[in-house]
Amino acid sequence: MKANLIIAIGTFSILTIGCTRQQEKEAKIEEKIDALLKQMTFEEKIGQMSQLNSNGNVADYKELIKAGKIGSFLNEINPATINEMQRIAMEESRLKIPILFARDVIHGFKTIFPIPLAQAATWNPLIVEEGGRVAAVEATEVGIRWTFAPMLDITRDPRWGRIAESLGEDPYLASVLGAAMVRGFQGNDLAEPTSMAACMKHFAGYGFVEGGRDYNTTMIPEVVLREVVLPPFKAAVDAGVATAMSSFNEINGVPSTGNSFLLRKVLREEWNFKGFVVSDWASVAEMIVHGYCADEKEAAMKAANAGLDMEMVTPLYAKHLDSLVKEGKVSMKTIDEAVRNILRIKFKLGLFDNPYVKIPQTSKIYSKSHLAAAKEAAIQSAVLLKNEKNLLPLGNQVKSIAIIGPLADAPSDQLGTWTLDGDKNYTQTPLKAIQAEYSNKLNIIYEPTLGYSRDIDGSNFSKAVAAARRADVVLMFLGEESILSGEARCRAEINLPGIQSQLVEEVKKAGKPIVLIIMAGRPLTIEKECILADAVLYAWHPGTMGGPAIADLLFGKAVPSGKLPVTFPKTVGQIPIYYNHKNTGRPPHENLQLIGSIPPGAKQLTMGYVSYYLDAGADPLFPFGYGLSYTTFEYTNLQLSKTELNNPDEITVTCQLKNTGKYEADEIVQLYVRDRVGSLTRPVKELKGFQRIRLKPQESKTVTFTLKTEDLAFWNADMKKVTEPGDFDVWIGPNSKDGLKGSFKVLP
Ligand code: BGC
Repeated sequence: MKANLIIAIGTFSILTIGCTRQQEKEAKIEEKIDALLKQMTFEEKIGQMSQLNSNGNVADYKELIKAGKIGSFLNEINPATINEMQRIAMEESRLKIPILFARDVIHGFKTIFPIPLAQAATWNPLIVEEGGRVAAVEATEVGIRWTFAPMLDITRDPRWGRIAESLGEDPYLASVLGAAMVRGFQGNDLAEPTSMAACMKHFAGYGFVEGGRDYNTTMIPEVVLREVVLPPFKAAVDAGVATAMSSFNEINGVPSTGNSFLLRKVLREEWNFKGFVVSDWASVAEMIVHGYCADEKEAAMKAANAGLDMEMVTPLYAKHLDSLVKEGKVSMKTIDEAVRNILRIKFKLGLFDNPYVKIPQTSKIYSKSHLAAAKEAAIQSAVLLKNEKNLLPLGNQVKSIAIIGPLADAPSDQLGTWTLDGDKNYTQTPLKAIQAEYSNKLNIIYEPTLGYSRDIDGSNFSKAVAAARRADVVLMFLGEESILSGEARCRAEINLPGIQSQLVEEVKKAGKPIVLIIMAGRPLTIEKECILADAVLYAWHPGTMGGPAIADLLFGKAVPSGKLPVTFPKTVGQIPIYYNHKNTGRPPHENLQLIGSIPPGAKQLTMGYVSYYLDAGADPLFPFGYGLSYTTFEYTNLQLSKTELNNPDEITVTCQLKNTGKYEADEIVQLYVRDRVGSLTRPVKELKGFQRIRLKPQESKTVTFTLKTEDLAFWNADMKKVTEPGDFDVWIGPNSKDGLKGSFKVLP
């Protein structure tokens, strides 16, 4: 007891020492900033607030850098150029303030990890953190110390091309994984040379663009903003994210870039964010196009006053802040605060002491360990959607396979969107991986049939069918090219592009078992193809190591474990469709009357008056959280530690999970709750916890979750976060649809 007490006191004092050291460090930085601010001219201050897009030509910027007029560059990745620009700043500018170099390093720098949406399908914060770490180690090698990631926009619309960059539809999952990504990029200490400042984006509401059309308007009630949109950003702030980016969209009539509710009230006052905020590309100037500002000067004024610290690429701050301050329309205090926020991050990054890139003697770029990490991420992100008669994994009885489709050997497309620096020559495709590993054991017939995903030349269809006839199993690699998702890459139809669907129908005629492997940047409407295929593996855009990962999954060296981070609609008309919806007053029931079953001349009164579509029913194609394995898992014995809770209080929810199949595998166990009655209605289910559990065949484990009453809180009509007394349902299960159900009460 005594010993414990001493240890406790010891730990406590280490913690307090640690804490005061940290505080001292921070106080020192503020002193240094004070000293600098005193010496800075107005122009030098505005310089810090300005970011330019580098064209690679130092001479073009030399005078500006010398005059202290550039705080940051984006898109300069040549270390020699970076060092020369930095040298001018450090040796030839008056105050020797280092430049911060930025780049969109979204899911890898050179070694490309699966797209963020795919990483979300791992439900594994360790994988996501490692992805961020690998990206930072590689990008800092060339001098990038600031990345514009993670993108934390929650979206419920797979038409939106940027869903590929998102962590899916659920605020809790995106919070856990987004924070992990921040930790990965930023490392233990921003000052370490391999740390990159992260930038949470796009603040805020960008994923809610109407109709899933990029840059479009958003109307988001504050309660939805606070419950759905903001939580991942809050989690990133709590994880210490260094910077934030305002979003392109307007939100309830005010562009985010000039939105003081978001940038001041929420970010600074409520969350105490200490980093800085950068605009999105030209988004200050775009406030004029939005119809929110009459001219450039007003745009500069509104952005600065809203709390936008740094302007990306457009020169409105440089042109107008001077006169705006003189006219008293922007205060000097506002300017000083912005500069302070920017300098704080530059100090934290250690740039004043170590401004230059030191090219390492042995580069980690594309190193074995980085490739291995990317492969593991690709393995864990693939989601098995169907596996009739356990067709997968392919066993020894398979002697010949046909590999068909435009994405079997598409080194650039499998990297996905935002891979500015990934080199396709390093990509390992499924075709190459399967050939390398299995050509001595299997007869491999390759028939791409289509040149790319949108190809509409069906002249090789007969070759595909012939190849299928000669094979025991057909592997069809279909999907979307990388250019069909990402920024400004929205689609009104989200089916398989081109004539890929017809290709599946044709190949089906050969009568051989078909495995579909889909590579895409978003959920696709593949109901028909899923019916035709015997097995479906959703591989997303899996990155550099996608090929070997998929090969291991197909042949059973690895077992699929990914689960969908987003609901898959059957058809575009169901969008928005998401699991954490409200119940409505007329929820759909089991026996819906679908369009085909309505007799001609049916009277209005004979129809079922519930919320659904005549032609698509009410269910999605696959629910959020869904994903199969080669093994089977059995959930039994849900137990609640109590059935009545005080407030505050906590409850333990457990169940027994057993691997009842033949393969050692991971299962992602999910915890959902429903608050049955609220002063504002509550979603039918909300994810509150998840765990990746590995079990050997026949092994079982007790899975334990702790729920606190504060986890049950929501934003009420007064915009207060409250846990209301009443009845709650709780589920532990394999996805958002199935699971063991219990219930408890929170007492008044
Ligand atoms: C995108 C941002 C990106 C920026 C800089 C913009 O078009 O919306 O996400 O970080 O460009 O490249």
